[in-house]
Amino acid sequence: MAAAVETSARPLLKDHDNVATIQYLLQKGTITQLPQSFVWSEKMKHNMSTTNVRAQESADVCSGKLSLPVIDISALRDAAKDPASVQKVEREIGDASRNWGFFQVVNHGVPEELMKEVLLQGMQFFSLPVEMKEKAVFENGTVSQLGYNGRMKGNNFETNTPWTETLSARGTEVEPLARGVWPEGNPSMSKPMEEYWRMVDKVGHVIIEALSHHLGVEPSILKTMLKDPDHDAAESLDLPRYNSAWRLCNYPSCPLADQTIGLGPHADPNLLTLLQQDEVGGLQVRKGENWIDVAPMPGALCINVGDSLQAWSNNSFSSVEHRVRVSEKSNRVSAAYFMAARRDQVIEAPPQLIDDEHPQLYRPFSYGEYLTSIFKKRLIGKSALDFARKPASAA
Ligand code: OGA
Ligand code: NI
Repeated sequence: MAAAVETSARPLLKDHDNVATIQYLLQKGTITQLPQSFVWSEKMKHNMSTTNVRAQESADVCSGKLSLPVIDISALRDAAKDPASVQKVEREIGDASRNWGFFQVVNHGVPEELMKEVLLQGMQFFSLPVEMKEKAVFENGTVSQLGYNGRMKGNNFETNTPWTETLSARGTEVEPLARGVWPEGNPSMSKPMEEYWRMVDKVGHVIIEALSHHLGVEPSILKTMLKDPDHDAAESLDLPRYNSAWRLCNYPSCPLADQTIGLGPHADPNLLTLLQQDEVGGLQVRKGENWIDVAPMPGALCINVGDSLQAWSNNSFSSVEHRVRVSEKSNRVSAAYFMAARRDQVIEAPPQLIDDEHPQLYRPFSYGEYLTSIFKKRLIGKSALDFARKPASAA
């Protein structure tokens, strides 16, 4: 792969079947044209063909009546837990998850210094030569363990190639991945990152508890779906021990930014995503027919509902499409933590959420089955849950 990067004889505009295409283009100097796979039509970038267009909402967004919720969650962390304040915050989180599928939280307890350090370490990693980045793989190099990906081709989000490179791994560990690049595991990168993912995982659990309380459902149901099973059981089922994952994304600046996209419109498959973006901006969330900018807020965590939570909650909460625009001038780095059910876990609405007025909308399915279905179809947007939708609700 790396050899292709160095072979300047290759024609610039040919699509390279290697993992270093963006690197290759950037190393060639000024970019005057993008390879076809990076070019996204306006229609694909917009992808408004599917679902949920609510005209009134669009009007309210344009008139500024609606804006993305920012929620102070300190009451949930307060040891004294004042019941009224807790309930108020739980309602805010529940309403945001219902109406937006997306919100930002502040006062979540993750120190701002640590947040900054993680983005800085991410930036440093992505500025390494591609040959070094490509060493960030696990020893057995299996796909399920992820690693460095300089080209998103083959993912479930889209058929075109987004303008991004990523580093990811399951769980909260960084060191085993870093050891692929640095024999001693680069503790100045892996230590703060591991601490960060563990803290973000805790914030995620606090949010999951709040969402469960809001619905009147025992929080242990969702928490158990996330839990690391005992090691022997996981081995015998041939399952990863833990299905939640972290991912750093780098979106290099691109002189032809308007022609491409950092990440196409998609909804996340997992239960809940907690993401930190830097000050460049570019993340957008769909509301009706509009794309709303998620304004960078230093210290805030962006949280979104994924398809699994939408299905489990019988549409009480809604996953939301989002996308990332590329900047002409600045690199952008983000750090996302995806809380996901284990593959063996069945996603099924609890009985409290089903009654005559709220019939069960999805048949029970395992998270593994869902993942297989989206990888097969290479779906875009929000149609991914259709495979489990019950006929009566197929409208
Ligand atoms: C994702 C995602 C957004 C971002 O990785 O699923 O939506 O800002 N990332 O990087
Ligand atoms: Ni996403």
